[in-house]
Amino acid sequence: MNTPNRLHYLQTMGIDVWLPRAAAVETVETPPSFVETQTQPALPPPSQSFTPSTDWQTLEAEVAACTRCGLCETRTQTVFGTGSRQADWLFIGEGPGQHEDEQGKPFVGKAGTLLTEMIRAIGLDREEVFITNVIKCRPPGNRDPHTDETASCHPYLQQQIQLIQPKIIVALGRIAAQKLLQTDMPISKLRGKVHTLDNLPLVVVYHPAYLLRSLLEKRKAWEDLQFAVQTFKANKG
Ligand code: URA
Repeated sequence: MNTPNRLHYLQTMGIDVWLPRAAAVETVETPPSFVETQTQPALPPPSQSFTPSTDWQTLEAEVAACTRCGLCETRTQTVFGTGSRQADWLFIGEGPGQHEDEQGKPFVGKAGTLLTEMIRAIGLDREEVFITNVIKCRPPGNRDPHTDETASCHPYLQQQIQLIQPKIIVALGRIAAQKLLQTDMPISKLRGKVHTLDNLPLVVVYHPAYLLRSLLEKRKAWEDLQFAVQTFKANKG
């Protein structure tokens, strides 16, 4: 997308773009004092013990052939994730929708375009980060993933996290955040805090799809992104 279009898109989101992209990350200060660090338990283990491959190619093939839950019967294909395998930033959404199921890539619909712009707003390109989902198969009718489905899929995500070793994990939206952090807390209580997943900092931001619906929340999304950048800077070591 060219710069005028991008600026227009961000303005539509209610985001003020007043710094060059490269400078945006540099000007963020230390995290505000309201940061609370919470250590959360990992997801419960799936019913059968299972250790996915530590080799990327084999892991991707294992996911593609997975039959660990009923979603394998309705999916067109699995959605493993895309981006840099050495990424500092790992974005985790809820699960593939129709377009993702058709194309085998995460966040390729309207919400994907907005996610790309959110990533650009923090001074990064989509190829520099890794994007995946809590579950790798589309739930029928885009329903929320069931607990057994997330538990079955979690070893794959956990292996991806181990292999990437990102500096920060960004949970996209309520469902991803609640599933990853094993909580029923509303997103309003989860955002603006630094959580921990697998010993890595995790922050929660509004889901891009939600932003498409709710004009009032767009500004909060920008605050979330700034908070994520602050957290990244504080933890990059
Ligand atoms: N929403 C998600 O949570 N993930 C996708 O991949 C697409 C839309």
